[in-house]
Amino acid sequence: MESELWPGIWPFSWTRRPSGTMIVIFFGERGSGECGMEDNVTQISREDLEDLREAFNKIDIDNSGYVSDFELQELFREASFSLPGYKVREIAEKFIAGDTNKDEKISFEEFVAIYQELRSKEVRETFRKTISRRDGIRSFGGTSGISSEGTQHSYADEEKVAFVNWINKALANDPDCKHLIPMDPSDDSLFKSVKDGILLCKMINLSQPDTIDERVISTKKRTTFTMTENLILALNSASAIGCTVVNIDAQDMIAGTPHLVLGLLWQIIKIGLFADIELSRNEALIALLGESEELDHLLSMSPEELLLRWVNYHLDAAGWKQIRNFSEDIKDSRAYFHLLDQISPKGDGDDEMRIVIEMSGLNEPDDEKRAELMLRQAARLDCRQFVTPQDVVAGNHKLNMAFVANLFNMFPALSRPSDNGIDLAMLEGESREDRTFRNWMNSLGVSPYVNHLYSDLMDGLIILQLYERIQVPVDWRRVNRPPYSILGSNMKKLENCNYAVDLGKKEAKFSLVGIGGENINEGSPMHTLALVWQLMRRYTVKVLSDIGVGEKVNDQIIIDWVNSTLQKGQKDSFINSFKDKSISTSLPVIDLIHTIAPSAIKSEMVKRGDMSAEDKLNNAKYAISVARKIGAKVYALPDDLVEVNPKMVMTVFACLMGRSLNKVEG
Ligand SMILES: *[C@@H]1O[C@H](CO)[C@@H](O)[C@H](O)[C@H]1NC(C)=O
Ligand SMILES: *[C@@H]1O[C@H](CO)[C@@H](O)[C@H](O)[C@H]1NC(C)=O
Ligand SMILES: *[C@@H]1O[C@H](CO)[C@@H](O)[C@H](O)[C@H]1NC(C)=O
Repeated sequence: MESELWPGIWPFSWTRRPSGTMIVIFFGERGSGECGMEDNVTQISREDLEDLREAFNKIDIDNSGYVSDFELQELFREASFSLPGYKVREIAEKFIAGDTNKDEKISFEEFVAIYQELRSKEVRETFRKTISRRDGIRSFGGTSGISSEGTQHSYADEEKVAFVNWINKALANDPDCKHLIPMDPSDDSLFKSVKDGILLCKMINLSQPDTIDERVISTKKRTTFTMTENLILALNSASAIGCTVVNIDAQDMIAGTPHLVLGLLWQIIKIGLFADIELSRNEALIALLGESEELDHLLSMSPEELLLRWVNYHLDAAGWKQIRNFSEDIKDSRAYFHLLDQISPKGDGDDEMRIVIEMSGLNEPDDEKRAELMLRQAARLDCRQFVTPQDVVAGNHKLNMAFVANLFNMFPALSRPSDNGIDLAMLEGESREDRTFRNWMNSLGVSPYVNHLYSDLMDGLIILQLYERIQVPVDWRRVNRPPYSILGSNMKKLENCNYAVDLGKKEAKFSLVGIGGENINEGSPMHTLALVWQLMRRYTVKVLSDIGVGEKVNDQIIIDWVNSTLQKGQKDSFINSFKDKSISTSLPVIDLIHTIAPSAIKSEMVKRGDMSAEDKLNNAKYAISVARKIGAKVYALPDDLVEVNPKMVMTVFACLMGRSLNKVEG
C-alpha cells in the first residue's frame, strides 16, 4: 500500500491517528522536491524530525509516547519554535476538537502533524525570524525556504568552538591524530574530522580510560570500510560508557551531521568531566557535607548538584553570596572571580607555586569586559576552557557547567575532613556490575540520567521506562510522576515500585520471588539487582527472538550455537556453560568472532598457550573491542571475561549470536 500511494518517494513512513486521519511524514531527502508532490504538504527533513523527536522526548519524560495538551507550549519551545501562549492554546483547542478519542494526549506523530501544518502557514516567517535573532546560531543545508534537500537546521556555534578547543588540547600530542589536530574552531573542520572515527574513539578512551583497545582502531589505512568500522566501534563503545546513541549511526558521522556530532561529543566530554565528581573517587568531597546532614544525602547527589555545592562551599569561604545555577547567577562573573581566588594554588610557602588572582576586574562596569578579565585569570590556571566572555554573559548553562567542572578537576582545593563518625564503607563506590547496568540504562536514553543505580531507581520511574524498552506495555495513567507533594511523596513512589514489580511478575513473567515494591523503594541492592538483571537479560535476548531464534531464548540455545559455530569454524575452543573457566582466556570469544567475521581478528594480537594474568586481560580487551567493531553492542567489560562473570559472559555471547544471525539473514 505504501508504495502505491507515493511511488518513487523514499524514504517515508506513515501512521494512522486514532481518529482515522492518515498522517504522512516526509523525510526531505535530496531530490524529493522534484517528484511533483503537491505543494500544500511541507516536507520535514530527517534532521528536523530528529530534532522534533528530541524535543518530544525531553517533554515526555516518562517515555509514554504521549505529551499532554498543556505541555504543548513547552514542547514548541524545546523545538525552538516559539509561539505566543494564545497561539498554542488555539492549536491545542483545535487539536482536541478534532481528536475523536478526546484523550487530550498528543502522540509524536500528532505533534509532527501539527508542526507540519504550522510550518506550511504564515508562522513559518515568524519562525525564521526567531531563529536568526538568536545569536551565534548558524543555519546550514537549505537556507531560503525549502532547498533541494528540504532542510533547515541550526546548531549552536559556541558549542562547536568550545568542543574544538577542548579536543585540540586533549589530543594535541596524540600521534594518531596528527592529520586532524589542531582543528580550526571557526570553520566546519570538526564535522569533517569525525568521519574516520579516530577522534571519537580517542575522546571516548579519554573520558573513560581503557574503554577501547587501541590495537583495534584502524589508524593507518583509511578507506570507507575501515572508517565505518572505526565509527561502529566508537558508537558501540559510546553506548557502553552510557551515552545515548539510539538515533545515531555511522552514516550520520560520515555525513558530519552537525547537531548529531555535537550531541554525541557533549555526552562523551561530559562523562569525562564528571567522572571524578563522585565521593568514592574523591573523598575530599566529604568536606561539602552540610551540618547535621546525612552522608547518604551527599552520596545520592548528581555530579551537577555536587558541583554547585562545591562552588558554594568556596563562595561561603569567600563571604560571597551563593549561586543556584550555572546560568542566571554566574552572568556577572563575580562569583567566578571569588571562586578562582579561593581555589588558586596558594603555594604553601613556596612563592614560585603561588598564583594570586587579580581581582581588580570586579570593578569593571561592563559585563562582557569583566567576563574577559575573569577568563584571563582562569587562563593563568590553565583553565580558560569551554566559555567565551559572551557565553558567560549569556549564561550558557551547558558550557558554564563544563567550565566549572574542569576547574573542579584541576583545582578542587578541598581537604578531607577528619573521619569523625563517617562510615568509610559507604564510600566504597559502585561495583563494576552496577556501573554496567547503569551505563546500559543510560544508553537507552532513560530520563533522568541515572547517576546512582539504587537511589535513582527508588521512585520506580526508570524501571517502568525500561519495561517499555523490552516491549512490556506500561499503563502510564497508573503511574505517579513528579513533582510530588512533600507529604506522601514516598507513598507515590512506592505505588510506582509496586506496579513495576507487578508488571515483572504478571506481564514479563520474571522470577521475582520474595521481591516487593518496598524493596525497590528502599533501594535494596540485592532486590533491585535481581529485577534489573532480568530486564537487561530480556533486552539482550530480545534481539534473538526478534530474528526468529525462537520465542523463548534460554541459555542452552546460546551455548549450543556458540559450540556448533566454533566447531564449524574448526576451532579447538568450546564452552560448557557461561561459567566455563576457559572463558577467562577470552579465546572462545575471539575464536567465535574469527569464525563469524574472519578478517576482524589479527591473530598476532592474540595470546595463546600459557597465559599470565596480564595476557588474559589483554585478550579480553581485544575481544571486547573487536566485538564492538563488528557491530555487537557489548556492555560487558574485559574483567567480566577474565573473572568469568556468568551474567556478563552470557550477554557477550548473545550479542555476538544476534550480530551473526542478523548478518546472515540481512
Ligand atoms: C586508552 O586509554 C588507555 C588508558 O588511559 C591508554 O593506555 C591507551 O593508550 C588509550 N588508547 C587509545 C586508543 O587512546
Ligand atoms: C537561576 O537562579 C536564579 C536565582 O538565583 C533564578 O532567578 C533563575 O531563574 C535561575 N535560572 C535558571 C535557568 O534556573
Ligand atoms: C560443547 O562442545 C564440546 C566440544 O565440541 C563438547 O564436548 C561439549 O559437550 C559441548 N557442551 C555443551 C554444553 O553443549
